[in-house]
Amino acid sequence: MEILQSAAALQAQTEIWRQNKLRVGLVPTMGALHEGHLQLVRAAARENDVVVVSVFVNPTQFNNPEDFRLYPRVPDADAELLGPAGCTALFMPSVEQMYPQPTVLRFDFGSLEQVMEGEHRPGHFHGVATVVSKLFHLSRPHRAYFGQKDLQQVTIIRQLVADLSFDLEVVAYPTIRETDGLAMSSRNRRLSPEARAVAPRLYQALMLGAGLVQQQQHAPQAVEQTVAQFLTTEPAIQLEYFTLADAQTLQPLTTGWVAGRTVALCLAAHLGGVRLIDNVLVTLP
Ligand code: PAJ
Repeated sequence: MEILQSAAALQAQTEIWRQNKLRVGLVPTMGALHEGHLQLVRAAARENDVVVVSVFVNPTQFNNPEDFRLYPRVPDADAELLGPAGCTALFMPSVEQMYPQPTVLRFDFGSLEQVMEGEHRPGHFHGVATVVSKLFHLSRPHRAYFGQKDLQQVTIIRQLVADLSFDLEVVAYPTIRETDGLAMSSRNRRLSPEARAVAPRLYQALMLGAGLVQQQQHAPQAVEQTVAQFLTTEPAIQLEYFTLADAQTLQPLTTGWVAGRTVALCLAAHLGGVRLIDNVLVTLP
């Protein structure tokens, strides 16, 4: 596995792969890798000739400087995991390599980012779209891999690809969980033992909500209240939002249940200073 640290080195490598007609898979990450990331790398290795994994803690998508400062960074451990998973080239640029000058262009995804993460983290998806666009241009992938764990992110990236005619396929893979249900996340490393012990409640809350959605006996708002109440019984968890949304448009469900629609149950919560997100999907019969 090669380690590339400059944008020019990645561009030069990409050019050679393209000349040799090799199919390129890209897996963008912020590192502190876990099984959720590694399944994307393995899938990219199965479905392409070469795999680029980027590890870059992107400052422009953090609306909270403290979160950026404390984000786990373990480059050596990441590099060790990636070779065996099928990564051909690990791209680990510095901030200066990715942002030689401050960007001026602003991304605005309209209604897609006025809810959930976009609503609670102003500017977050602008930063994500900026860095992902740069990575697309530098590595020119045939396929790019993302996790359903960040449902709103995948939806916004699909919109980005459509709006800017990026010639690539966006591929999404399901959320990988710990055995107790907690969605794997780089931020889980920052949980105290006490917070880690109550963290599976988030998934339990989603399962409670999923059961109620399947029953279709209560209005969406009533389901939201029941789930929020379930979480408030645990004082170590501060719920930021729990929303039932249409999985395609991400807009809150207001009109009740529609047959065949896929409902996304999405939440964000703080556990002892660490912010976690999770979601599950339910397709109505
Ligand atoms: P990061 O949080 O490192 O996640 C990288 C990719 O792994 C994302 O597509 C994310 O959805 C996926 N992922 C994370 N945890 C997962 C899990 N438990 N199961 C399945 N997939 C999971 O998302 C980002 O980085 C950044 O915003 C990025 C796209 C790299 C832009 O900076």
